[in-house]
Amino acid sequence: MKKIVCDNYEEACQAAADIFAAQLEKKPESVLGLATGSTPIGLYEEFVSRNEKGQMDFSQVRAFNLDEYYPIKANNPQSYHAFMEEHLFSKVKFASTRILNGESPDPGIECARFDAELDAAGGLDLLLLGIGQNGHVGFNEPADSYPLGSYLVHLTEDTITVNSRFCEDGENLPASAITMGMGQIFSAKKILLLITGESKAKIAKKLFEGKVFTDVSASFLLLHPDITVVLDKAAYGD
Ligand code: GLP
Repeated sequence: MKKIVCDNYEEACQAAADIFAAQLEKKPESVLGLATGSTPIGLYEEFVSRNEKGQMDFSQVRAFNLDEYYPIKANNPQSYHAFMEEHLFSKVKFASTRILNGESPDPGIECARFDAELDAAGGLDLLLLGIGQNGHVGFNEPADSYPLGSYLVHLTEDTITVNSRFCEDGENLPASAITMGMGQIFSAKKILLLITGESKAKIAKKLFEGKVFTDVSASFLLLHPDITVVLDKAAYGD
């Protein structure tokens, strides 16, 4: 595991953008895995700005997102469809974008379809991950076992509480989500885990104990052959 500790959030986003820029330089038609949450917002701003300046070109990139709430309408402001549209997809041209459909009447069929599309694209070249305070990646919540492919997951109360900080009065998050499974995450050729802010210091410390915990899906990433963790000092506990 490679670790990059940056002075602050802005520098962490730039370091992460540099890794994506190098990937697109090497392979303009990369298949990228993208994440949501507050952490990648600064990175997506960096993508938009570098794209406007002609420094990063996503026009041949096929993007697959990690997860989506379920059930949720794409036009619900809390959906990850809405998030990606607002922060990235409305501003930068991609060859294609794919997010698990929170409106599908049958999540099992939707997951199988998503997995087949990801397989047909040749799998992920570079996957961006954030981390939940309980150590989840995607929505792979603490469990005794994790499916390899995409699946419907019941969210923990903790995750719903933490993620509800983006909700307006009267808005509620769904109690479930559909997420890439650990097999898909692990099959990415390269992984970039972005961890920023004081609220992630505890889980970052646990990750750097260098042990695999069965109930911390992020800890399995320690076994990945090509993972870079980019942190700011606040998350590194410095
Ligand atoms: C959600 C997403 C994760 C994300 C996590 C952390 O639960 N499913 O992919 O990593 O939130 O979000 P934040 O970056 O806002 O802390």
